[in-house]
Amino acid sequence: MPHDQATWQLWIDRPGALVSPFLFGHFAEHLGRCIYEGLWVGPESPIPNQDGLRTDVLAALRDLPVPVLRWPGGCFADDYHWEDGIGPRERRPRRTNLWWYGEEPNHFGTDEFLALCRAIGAEPYICLNVGSGSPTEARNWLEYCNGSGQTHYARLRAQHGHPEPYGVRYWGVGNENWGCGGHFTPEEYAAAYRRFATYLKPFTRTTRSRIELIACGHTTPDWNQRFLAALGVERNPRLLDLIDHLSIHRYFRGPHDRDFTAADYYWLLASTLQLETDLRRTRDVLSYDGGQKRLGIVVDEWGTWYDQARAENGLEQVNTMQDAVVAAGTLNLFVRWADWVTMANLAQTVNVLQCVVQTAGPAMWLTPTYHAVHLLAAHRGQRVLPADLETPELTVSGPAGTSARLPLVDGAASRSADGRTLVLTLVNRHLEEAIECRISLRGEGRIDGGLHQQLTADDVRAANSAADPERVRPTRAPFPAAGTTVAVTLPPHSVTALQLTLVSP
Ligand code: AHR
Repeated sequence: MPHDQATWQLWIDRPGALVSPFLFGHFAEHLGRCIYEGLWVGPESPIPNQDGLRTDVLAALRDLPVPVLRWPGGCFADDYHWEDGIGPRERRPRRTNLWWYGEEPNHFGTDEFLALCRAIGAEPYICLNVGSGSPTEARNWLEYCNGSGQTHYARLRAQHGHPEPYGVRYWGVGNENWGCGGHFTPEEYAAAYRRFATYLKPFTRTTRSRIELIACGHTTPDWNQRFLAALGVERNPRLLDLIDHLSIHRYFRGPHDRDFTAADYYWLLASTLQLETDLRRTRDVLSYDGGQKRLGIVVDEWGTWYDQARAENGLEQVNTMQDAVVAAGTLNLFVRWADWVTMANLAQTVNVLQCVVQTAGPAMWLTPTYHAVHLLAAHRGQRVLPADLETPELTVSGPAGTSARLPLVDGAASRSADGRTLVLTLVNRHLEEAIECRISLRGEGRIDGGLHQQLTADDVRAANSAADPERVRPTRAPFPAAGTTVAVTLPPHSVTALQLTLVSP
């Protein structure tokens, strides 16, 4: 029997912002076994592949789906020289991977990345090298990808087998430039950003394919403010043409290996609440311009990062049901913030950090996080609904006598454009107790059954593996309830997705 109750009122007649598919994006860096082994095995590999890309991983990512994929880093991006990664593979130079302790063979470069994106149906998002690169190198990369006609780089791309421009729309101007991307001050980065963007933005005109630029922001209180002030947009609002989105990163750190305690679990979940504060602070800074141009917030790296994930082991870590609970709560947050968050990218697609797919030689399996993302992705293209959730809370303790209040139930609701489908996603964070959630509709319409999908496991530490790839997987069943008030039971540490049919009262 459920121990506790939550109530959730949904205003179904007040659809709000469109939920961008890009909130369910991913990130793949040249780090550990993400690209090499994970995505790319090369055409000569005995592992089945499509021109070097693992076919099993391609199929899994296609089904997830992956609406947008960020590449090549991360820290790697600010020391990546893209011309190393084009042309005949045997002639590409081997370089030191400065950040992730290895050698970069450059077998996976721009054309391979764009082939990957096409194969899985992802929009490419390329992160440029500001730290050790130059505006010239960046504009040449853009011309290689998007240029048409007879320019040097458009012809080079055609020689490499791609006569048609790729039309890459999203370009990040550096990564964490306050840290591994060059240790800039906000003012120094603003000066660098202005130079780069000035020579990138005109490509929207010359190639007639719109590009959107993403500037590097930060979660410290003053970076974003100082950056925008130094960029000079207050003085000269036309400079707003140079920027479309501001990015922030948020990792949820934990000391855990597979034997994490209940206290570790609750503290990790409490730490995920910080992201809403990050979004609020970033929004407040972006709101200053009085609405002259709405910049989007891009959370282009997020996810769990445990102590066991170190550069030496390619940032690999266990991925359990706990991670699925974190993923679902975070994606619920992005859906609720759909009017401000324009993109988010989970770190990192295969084998690294909070990946969605893991591999060992020829074996491949899906992580609990994969299933959570798959369930939450049902919100794509819908309109977010205002909702009022009353949930039991828990006081949880952290290090050095700190404590926090953790809402046990978390949810997001959206409605389809034709008004006929509601998507409701709910998380129960309690480790031991089921919670019943009573859902009431406010407005014209009632529920007439639907689909019920649920992800949980007997143990929150449960993980999938090569030996047991289906240990954690969702159930799927009809949801027969009807009316304007329905109840759903949320098992302990679970993710529930309801796709409900809405009919006239
Ligand atoms: O995702 C791993 C690293 O975390 C990225 O390279 C960097 O951007 C961040 O600090």
